[in-house]
Amino acid sequence: MIALERSVQIIGTGSFTPERVLTNHDLEQIVDTSDEWITSRTGIKERRISDPGTPSSALAFEAASRALENAGVGAKELDQIVIGTVTGDRTFPSTACIVQDRLGATNAYGFDISAACAGFLYGLSVGRSAILSGAAGTVLVIGVESLTKIVNWTDRNTCVLFGDAAGAVVLRATGAPGGILATRLHSDGALVHLLEMPAGGSLMPPSHETVDRRLHTIHMSGNDVFKHAVRAMESVALEALEASGHTSADLDLLIPHQANFRIIEATARRLGLSMEKVFVNLDRYGNTSSASIPLALDEARRSGRIRPGDLVEMVTFGGGFTWAGAVVRW
Ligand code: ACO
Repeated sequence: MIALERSVQIIGTGSFTPERVLTNHDLEQIVDTSDEWITSRTGIKERRISDPGTPSSALAFEAASRALENAGVGAKELDQIVIGTVTGDRTFPSTACIVQDRLGATNAYGFDISAACAGFLYGLSVGRSAILSGAAGTVLVIGVESLTKIVNWTDRNTCVLFGDAAGAVVLRATGAPGGILATRLHSDGALVHLLEMPAGGSLMPPSHETVDRRLHTIHMSGNDVFKHAVRAMESVALEALEASGHTSADLDLLIPHQANFRIIEATARRLGLSMEKVFVNLDRYGNTSSASIPLALDEARRSGRIRPGDLVEMVTFGGGFTWAGAVVRW
């Protein structure tokens, strides 16, 4: 167990989803699929889609504004802005710089983290460390994705899974007990080919050929990812719990990455948790990668599923592979 002299609290949460809804029945018109297949294999019923011309920074700005309002913190009080995303506005500059400007957070510096579905928990860990080290006082951590802009709408294996969203939290050391008790992060690049966007970077710069071969879209070997996800989510959940001095029996709420209901159920079963202690909203949003956990956290807080004093664990798995867990005393 880690003994920290002071702890970092999540003092505000916020989220934003685009208005436009794409249902499983809508997808039946686009690819050879069915509501029955998508629901039984994933648990997803519908997802949100941002309009053409709406970048990730616009979603992030809305979620961040709501988190700041919930925290009662002004944008000028921010020292650091960290965004987990793999669908930023551009390769560079970072989306965090765009959001910093839109918020008017003139005293903050910002940067993006590329860790796929683990981007938000990586950001939470980085922001917490910055505060614990004294490098920052108040940190804004955002997870945002516009995955529907990088899916191959002719590939039924992937296009039914993803959605667009943003979620944000404000971190500060308030002197109160509790807060973020432990974070654990992992990555393993050995199986990079199982989940990737192959082209667009320095490995395979954009060309007519890469566009024609649809290499600027998500490529995933879903079944292989599934097996790794279940094992990794369980192990990092246990590791973060142990680091916080708790076991799964102490948990009031588990907030898992919302990729697939079967992965969530398997993780809960392995941790010995009943589904009443597990937050699920992927039926309405699909897999929103790094936005998934902060969106769920914000919904859980606003709906009263998290009460003061509750022990909450967040756990995720994504491309890289990356996986992470965080335990918070609310
Ligand atoms: N509609 C109908 N049939 C489909 C569809 C669809 N949308 N998609 C695939 N199928 C078919 C396949 O073609 C296959 O048919 P075949 O047997 O004739 O070849 C069959 O359904 C079974 O396919 P599987 O891939 O074995 O299906 P599985 O049960 O594994 O479910 C899924 C697929 C939902 C993708 C699952 O594997 C999964 O959720 N994987 C993990 C995803 C994940 O967690 N990703 C990590 C985070 S994402 C990130 O980091 C950006």
